[in-house]
Amino acid sequence: MLDTARRHEFRVLVAAKPSLPLLLTAGRLAGSLRRVPRIGWVSADPVVARRILNDPAHFTLLGEGGVGHLWAQVLGDWVNEIFDGPGHHQLRSRTRDLFTDENARQLTDRVIGPRLAQAGAELAGGRAVDIADLGRVLVGRIVADLLQLRVADRDDAYREIFAVGEELAALALGTTTSTHLTPETIARAKVIVARLTVNVAEAWRTAAPETVLGRCRDLGIDQRQAEGLSTLLMVAGTETAASAMARTVAILHDTGAQHRLRADPSLLPDAVREGLRVTSPAPVIGRAVAADVTVEGQRLRAGERVLMLTWTANNAAGAFDLDRGYLPDQRQLWFGAGRHLCLGAPVARAEITGLLQTLLAPGRAWRIRERRYRRNVLIPSYAHLPLRLARH
Ligand code: HEM
Repeated sequence: MLDTARRHEFRVLVAAKPSLPLLLTAGRLAGSLRRVPRIGWVSADPVVARRILNDPAHFTLLGEGGVGHLWAQVLGDWVNEIFDGPGHHQLRSRTRDLFTDENARQLTDRVIGPRLAQAGAELAGGRAVDIADLGRVLVGRIVADLLQLRVADRDDAYREIFAVGEELAALALGTTTSTHLTPETIARAKVIVARLTVNVAEAWRTAAPETVLGRCRDLGIDQRQAEGLSTLLMVAGTETAASAMARTVAILHDTGAQHRLRADPSLLPDAVREGLRVTSPAPVIGRAVAADVTVEGQRLRAGERVLMLTWTANNAAGAFDLDRGYLPDQRQLWFGAGRHLCLGAPVARAEITGLLQTLLAPGRAWRIRERRYRRNVLIPSYAHLPLRLARH
């Protein structure tokens, strides 16, 4: 059964980008740190990756090879002040409590709770629920709430928000070799950002303190920072969260773990953590070398790039296992590490937990008879994953 889960996960990766499984599995050979032609330095070691991510003096995401370099071209040079360095440090200090496990749970209960209840009722009533589509709708709802987008309360409207966020993230496709964008790409991205952040400035001024933008204001984040942060939240938290939701559900089915979880709900946090580890929806993290540095006995020069194969590092521990427990080397490398550790991690965990709680209700064992993987996407995921009650 484990092999079934691994086979489907492998296909999810191939469909996203045919060369991805090769990079991620052959990447094991890179070991702690190795220079690879046309890619740069590559590491598949969780401890070395964390060391690099925790060394802002020598590694940056603003230079060629990092996402900051991408976003500065789209949003403007001011990005350099908030994506890294002292400005980023200040922003992260102020947003330390923006998302906590408690307020993320309240956010997801309020924003996706009713839609999850509807999905649970459909499943209980014998209907098929496409978890891949549901994940996109749920994430679209969260994004709409975070960015205070006013849309009709229909699944289609949220699917569209997801699609627009995804289009923006797709800019990063192909950045394994370069983060320089063409003028056409920059122009297209600017239009998308303007559309998605249309209400941010006003919401930052007027939104209630319990909304995320209201909290940003009260935490001392200025309007432009709030606009930049909103774009980041959307790009970073859209496909990643939908991917983790669908793939974790598929793994619970393929390994049979759904039955044990239903009998013992106290294992739910382990299922969420293991799902995140094995899927590692953001499979690689890139950095530019900001200043010459020696790592693992190798001399890295300013201007070079480092690719951390976090999927590989996380999966080296083995297949999905509810009994695996906390891994001190990996910790939560699926959310990165150091100053750029995923800001939305509590939201992602709350979204996945909410979905699993709905699906693991007593008497709701399900089966998956067909599935489709998403093709040519930045974040590997399912296109179609219908669940049905096992007895139907
Ligand atoms: C399973 C879902 C998710 C995964 C696997 C994930 C993964 C990551 C990773 C690996 C990073 C670090 C990137 C780097 O160091 O270059 C990151 C950063 C970030 N994530 Fe997430 N993320 C997820 C969901 C979310 C959600 C739901 C949100 C927002 C609600 C979010 C917001 C952010 C933000 C704002 C950053 C940038 C932090 C910074 O640069 O200081 N993420 N995420």
